[in-house]
Amino acid sequence: MRTRVAIIGAGPAGLLLSRLLSLQGIENVVLENRSREYVEARIRAGILEQHTVDTLTDAGLGDRLHREGMEHHGIYLQYPGTRHKLDFPALCGRTVWVYGQTEVTKDLIKAQLDGGAPLLFEVSDVSPEDIDTDAPRVRFTDADGNRQVLECDVVAGTDGFHGVSRPLVTAGTQSRTWERTYPYAWLGILADVAPSTDELIYAWHPDGFALHSMRSPSVSRLYLQVDPHEKIEDWSDDRIWTALATRFALAGWQLQTGPITEKSVLPMRSFVSAPMRRGRLFLAGDAAHIVPPTGAKGLNLAVADVTLLGTALVRWLQEKQTDLVDSYSDRALARVWRCTHFSWFMTSMLHRSGDDFDAQLQLSQLRRVCSSEAAARELAENYTGLPLDT
Ligand code: FAD
Ligand code: PHB
Repeated sequence: MRTRVAIIGAGPAGLLLSRLLSLQGIENVVLENRSREYVEARIRAGILEQHTVDTLTDAGLGDRLHREGMEHHGIYLQYPGTRHKLDFPALCGRTVWVYGQTEVTKDLIKAQLDGGAPLLFEVSDVSPEDIDTDAPRVRFTDADGNRQVLECDVVAGTDGFHGVSRPLVTAGTQSRTWERTYPYAWLGILADVAPSTDELIYAWHPDGFALHSMRSPSVSRLYLQVDPHEKIEDWSDDRIWTALATRFALAGWQLQTGPITEKSVLPMRSFVSAPMRRGRLFLAGDAAHIVPPTGAKGLNLAVADVTLLGTALVRWLQEKQTDLVDSYSDRALARVWRCTHFSWFMTSMLHRSGDDFDAQLQLSQLRRVCSSEAAARELAENYTGLPLDT
């Protein structure tokens, strides 16, 4: 088998890169080790920045998003006694959209299977080789158990945090990684109940952070800060709803409850690996970096990476110009660090550490964001997404 770009991983980064390349007439093949059902059911992010929505729309993937997605004009920041709305259009002229990553993934897979580039599910033993030469290849075993070799010009490592691509890049001499593990986790639930709020609520509370998000007019997504060692079995539905009601409590407002259809505990970490390239292997998305979910940046960063990478590869493979592939890693990393800072800032401002000095600093910061237009604008600009080269 031969193609121009071998893409490892069919998450949002790999699927969107494939789409962007195909639209420019560049042959590619996507290799995914899970099944289509598994990939489509994975519940993850829910907030799309304006740039992400524009990119998906320009790539012909906006129909259902615009029909079923929900445009949001702000968020509420809450601390005891106060729930304050940050009005994004007034602060920075941009909005965000609620549209689940599961839906983005389904739209991308459908477009791909309707005449897009080959997308092979349930492959195994994926192994990029000779990435430091002009003729790399990817060996893998297909779903029928046959060993295959995919010859290519470029390998895109979009295989997430636990994939095979990053270790090849970090084995390079110039490579470096940075990591922060946070001393808390999120317990996330999906519930069949209409959201009790028009905008997302990010709540600071002495018991810990809580977030009220949503997936549709009839499905709510909520999170509670918990200890990372917490066992999900110890959290009955009643205990979860009681904790959520306590943390979101506000005079005159009530949290609606309903059947919980999914619950899980998510660890929180920041991680950055640089550079995002070794020879002809390019990393994008979670393969190169992880952010804690408080800033809603993970999926949006993956989209920003592949937007840069797609343009750079088109210029290289079609126009034989190497300037954009050569600057890809630096340009992507500048944005990665901005989002890493913002996600750390939101996480640090909103999660209880157990230390009362920290709590006073957090409350002071929250009062500042809720009373100063300059402080609010800084948050709004970061949350809704900064320009691509940031
Ligand atoms: P992924 O979505 O991880 O896709 C990588 C793909 O590569 C997967 O399909 C995987 O199966 C495949 N793969 C892995 N190894 C191989 C291999 N060896 N061969 C072939 N294929 C391989 N972000 C937010 O903004 N908000 C959230 O609420 C949020 N919640 C999250 C919850 C969880 C549990 C996780 C893990 C992440 C969450 N994120 C969230 C982050 C966000 O979902 C990711 O940033 C986003 O999925 C990144 O997309 P990606 O395509 O880079 O990686
Ligand atoms: C979500 O809806 O899953 C979500 C929303 C905002 C976040 C994180 C997750 O900051």
